[in-house]
Amino acid sequence: IWQEVPLAPPDSIFKLTAAYKEDKFKDKVNLGVGAYRDDNSKPWVLPVVKKATSILLNDETLDHEYLPITGLAEYTSAAAKLILGADSPAVKAGRVSSVQTISGTGANHLGALFLSRFYQFNGKKQVFLSNPTWINHYAILRNVGIEPVEYPYYDPKTIGLDFEGFINSLKSAPERSVFLIHACAHNPTGVDPTQEQWKAIAEVIKEKKHYSFFDSAYQGFASGDLDKDAWAVRYFVEQGLPLLVCQSFAKNAGLYGERVGALHIVPPDAETANRVKSQLSVLQRSEISNPPAHGARLVSLILNDAGLFEEWKRDIRTMAGRIIDMRNELHRQLTEVLHTPGSWDHILQQIGMFSFTGLNPAQSQKLIDEAHIYLTQNGRISMAGLNSHNVEYVARSIDGVVRG
Ligand code: LMR
Repeated sequence: IWQEVPLAPPDSIFKLTAAYKEDKFKDKVNLGVGAYRDDNSKPWVLPVVKKATSILLNDETLDHEYLPITGLAEYTSAAAKLILGADSPAVKAGRVSSVQTISGTGANHLGALFLSRFYQFNGKKQVFLSNPTWINHYAILRNVGIEPVEYPYYDPKTIGLDFEGFINSLKSAPERSVFLIHACAHNPTGVDPTQEQWKAIAEVIKEKKHYSFFDSAYQGFASGDLDKDAWAVRYFVEQGLPLLVCQSFAKNAGLYGERVGALHIVPPDAETANRVKSQLSVLQRSEISNPPAHGARLVSLILNDAGLFEEWKRDIRTMAGRIIDMRNELHRQLTEVLHTPGSWDHILQQIGMFSFTGLNPAQSQKLIDEAHIYLTQNGRISMAGLNSHNVEYVARSIDGVVRG
């Protein structure tokens, strides 16, 4: 048996981490996976997370019993308020079905699975993905029998948003289509619509009765402000648009390996929300039975304690601020120091964890092979991998591949 099983290629993002770890070159740089690093290239355990961890360790009332199937209630309700707003009309009306998930990936999966079972697709079972998008979106959808189709998003000519293309595809898609939308800090491009553009997007979505499938993996990372980065989601809720939100605490709480996430489905009324949640619970039971406790307890402590919450906001500003500093420095090196051919202003305009440099696959590969700088083939770099010690080396190396 298993003779027919073909060898699968390694994951395009995590293979970079493995190759980087193997690499013996002293000045190697990992700009592959979207994971925050401090100025010494080290993973950063947020001070607020350290504090919350010690509180949990000393809490004699805690045990290792199962959580409820839909997760820790005080975590999911606080997580819903974080993304939808403390005074969200949907939260107040009790019409948010929230389920704890295995980070953002699990939320995307559960959301897609739920749609696959219960959404009344108009014609084909398909979901529109931005071109490009996080590579895993494709596999997550296909796993549940949904065909991913693409909508224009990124314009290589401007290294910015293809707003016309996006709007036109919203207009030309069949009514009640599902659009997967990055809530903020678009992965991989770092290119987000402006608030005016979001309003126009929401208007067409309303007209066409489309369903918005928000992926929110970087709340706080874009601007350093949790509320500002939730603006689009909250605006869509205010407009009464049907939607769900996939939420991850991997990046903004630095809890990558703890797999803390949530799926929030926002139906029109509390009674529907209740039925939706009952089905999410059934799906979750067959997949993971109950979500893991530790990370959810940490985030719950942070979200539900005013002091810890303020500390967390400070930690987020530290991360977002360092990333913004690196954008400025990389841009300065390329434009003022090296006078690298081409325009590099997009590095400043893009936001969040990533920058889409505009480097082509051959140039990206050359950076890996010759400079030991790891990045994805599409020219995406994780800004969090840059620091004051390596930014000059990275800029010089980019300059080298651009000049050929
Ligand atoms: C990334 O895009 O690098 C991150 O979201 C990590 C992942 O799971 O791919």
